Amino acid sequence: MSKPRVVLAYSGGLDTSVAIEWMKEHKDVDVVACAVDVGQGVDDLDEIKQRGLDCGAVESVVVDAKAEFADEFIAPALKANAMYMGKYPLVSALSRPLIVKHLVRVARETGAAGVAHGCTGKGNDQVRFEVGTMCLAPDLDTMAPIREWGLTRDASIDYANERGIPIPIKSKESPYSIDENAWGRTAECGILEDPWAQPPSDVFERTVDATDAPDTPEEVVIAFRNGLPVSLDGQAMPLAELVATLDARAGAHGVGRIDMIEDRLVGIKSREIYECPAAITLITAHRDLEDLCLEQELAEHKRAEEGRYAQLIYNGLWWGPLKKALDAFIDEANRYVNGEVRVQLYKGSATVVGRRSADSGLYSLEMATYDEGDQFDQTLAEGFVKLWGLPLKTWAARTKAHGEGL
Ligand code: ARG
Repeated sequence: MSKPRVVLAYSGGLDTSVAIEWMKEHKDVDVVACAVDVGQGVDDLDEIKQRGLDCGAVESVVVDAKAEFADEFIAPALKANAMYMGKYPLVSALSRPLIVKHLVRVARETGAAGVAHGCTGKGNDQVRFEVGTMCLAPDLDTMAPIREWGLTRDASIDYANERGIPIPIKSKESPYSIDENAWGRTAECGILEDPWAQPPSDVFERTVDATDAPDTPEEVVIAFRNGLPVSLDGQAMPLAELVATLDARAGAHGVGRIDMIEDRLVGIKSREIYECPAAITLITAHRDLEDLCLEQELAEHKRAEEGRYAQLIYNGLWWGPLKKALDAFIDEANRYVNGEVRVQLYKGSATVVGRRSADSGLYSLEMATYDEGDQFDQTLAEGFVKLWGLPLKTWAARTKAHGEGL
């Protein structure tokens, strides 16, 4: 009789490489390795596929999901200007639901009984993998070998050496725990665990230090259609390509470094370092264009929903009903977010220096101008102010009648 199968989210790194052997040994299962390319800059998909087999998987699957990640995960997050705690563009939180989707698909295709991930018990990713699986495939089991096993890094390396599991060179070198995709790069552990310690320069890969950035600013013009970027400097390109191109350009100016204390869902405060050049530049530009194109009540309500939206993604609820309902609102709100934004990249910042919309902006020069051509009827303001202030005027009179007030 063949053993039950489990599809493991495989990164090619140390933890998931040893997890394959451990699950075989301790869970008596066959492991299908599934690596998903979400733009983490993987060396070579074929190589990862082979590594999965070399580490003992019965089958190894690789998925190029770069376009899907951009179109179905980055796109809605950008429309929502999604930033957890107002700072973190949800890099890892966005990729997990996509990885889950493919794990479940592969589980169905290979007749697997469950899926597995290589997260520890201290982070948010375990929640995202498992709750995501509950949503997409409530009948599948989930396994968390690393959490269950509780190995230290050194012990993992020993375990691998004892069993002849090939260890990826990179994992021996980096003192940090890194997760990376098209929307950014995250770093934790090592010296970063001291929140007072300035991050050493070797933490960073996608951004230069602002002090080393070019002395000349660079401008990029980003065009949006229905709230999504469609071209850079007039050159149309698919979202995945646009994000990658902008990431390199903005990163070269030191844009997108984030150093924060973060509230994890499991109750821990952690110190996190992020590099998100494209995400920060695009959200900055998109927000600005919304200010030009959204009616004010809608704009205000959208700002309130954005925090909620970011939080639910952070908390692993991507595949739940609230996300879907909020998407409907956010899509509707973005219907007329059309136009161009000029962004200046300079010494660590992305600054909007101009915006325009040929057909969807609500800015009216005739209304705004203090010069010739003013169409704003100032005589209407008098009555407006009186009515606007009427409730307070009434209240103030009562306050006075009671002998209170200034
Ligand atoms: N703290 C971030 C989050 O929860 C980053 C997590 C990075 N994950 C990792 N396995 N290194 O989204």
